Amino acid sequence: SRASMYVLRGPLISFLNDPGEGDTPEDGSLLHLEDGALWLENGRIRAVADYTQLAAQLPAGIEVVDYSDKLMMPGFIDSHVHYVQLDIMASYGRQLLDWLNEYTFPEECRFAERAHAENVAEAFLDETLRVGTTTAQVFCTSHPVSVDTFFTAAQRRGLRMLAGKVLMDRNAPEALTDTATGGIKDSERLIADWHGKGRLGYTLTPRFAPTSTRDQLDATGGILRNAPDLHLQTHLSENLGEIDWVAELFPEAADYLDVYERYGLVGPRSTFAHGIHLTQEARNRLAQAGANIAFCPTSNLYLGSGLFDRLACREAGLNTTLASDVGGGTDLSGLSTLKAAYQVGQLLNQPLTAWQGFYRLTLGNARALHLDAHIGSLREGAEADIVVLDPKATSLMARRTERTKSLAELLFALMILGDDRSVYATWANGQCVHQRDTVNTTKLR
Ligand code: GUN
Ligand code: ZN
Repeated sequence: SRASMYVLRGPLISFLNDPGEGDTPEDGSLLHLEDGALWLENGRIRAVADYTQLAAQLPAGIEVVDYSDKLMMPGFIDSHVHYVQLDIMASYGRQLLDWLNEYTFPEECRFAERAHAENVAEAFLDETLRVGTTTAQVFCTSHPVSVDTFFTAAQRRGLRMLAGKVLMDRNAPEALTDTATGGIKDSERLIADWHGKGRLGYTLTPRFAPTSTRDQLDATGGILRNAPDLHLQTHLSENLGEIDWVAELFPEAADYLDVYERYGLVGPRSTFAHGIHLTQEARNRLAQAGANIAFCPTSNLYLGSGLFDRLACREAGLNTTLASDVGGGTDLSGLSTLKAAYQVGQLLNQPLTAWQGFYRLTLGNARALHLDAHIGSLREGAEADIVVLDPKATSLMARRTERTKSLAELLFALMILGDDRSVYATWANGQCVHQRDTVNTTKLR
């Protein structure tokens, strides 16, 4: 119908392939149109072209949105984030295990209550769209209602989202623990209700090895074997204290990763958050399985977990995705995540180019999560999830980008100086789902 047809006109970029690590993108890895047009119809991109080429074909009366001083790209993807930790971001001064016990677990207990889960799910989605993220792989809590409310909210907004119920049957407060059989039953019910419903997909979510019994991990592997189109996410080798604890709890395992391998949890749709302290041999095993590591730079810095060796993963042929890991992470913004990733890279003498950074936020994350048939690029037939960046969002940014002489410089300035203010608009499923306020207003939920 006419109502769901739009043309977005302006500069645009979209990756076609991994641009590599060089200062210029590999040949054929990038589409860049200086005066581009995206013709959106019924939630999808019907055409991508130079505006002047497309203009003749457009039906009379179609709405053309002018983004000529902006930059459009595919909506950002966050491969690992906890929506239920939104309200404990910036809880002071602890490393992983104390932070979980003192702040995280008590907060997660509140998600037994539907009204609380609804409130936070809506606030979380308001925020992710405001920072240009249109797809995320989301941890809920162990309460099934925390998943029902999240998927309900995502579905109402037409978003492509992955999420799942946390499985944890030991070493946590009783109000948060499930049981090996109960957790699996609840997961199966949620899979039946939500997996493949519209744009939603289910992610099996054992929290991490220390909070699951062998029975629970084994049963989780059983579901995955029978339904290999499900995703799985968990945490791996984030913190040295955590790694010691896993060695105590699973003395039979050769290393932390081996715990997950034993139960069939390491596959092509598995995301392992952090993966900081890994041997090259473990990276090779993850690569062999086609799994991905979620690089969570703001979280790794904030919780003092360590510096992620991105290039060691690349050398192993191991996919890395980019993630906020809020509430361990300090920012939902993909741009802020890129800035932190760049800073970590500098400390390891592994500079991150803007090409590689924006590739990872879009097509790279989509590919590693097996979502690239739907999202991650601006091409004919793709789902219309788009972020519209404003290179002149602040007077400082306007001064800085005034003098950028190339797309590389502009993207790099956005990656280092950009933040939530740089997101002018966000489109999802062919509709505008966020438009930046021109005045500084606050919406409290
Ligand atoms: N490991 C187990 N649970 C968590 C969590 O909630 N956040 C982080 N960063 N690491 C974890
Ligand atoms: Zn996490």
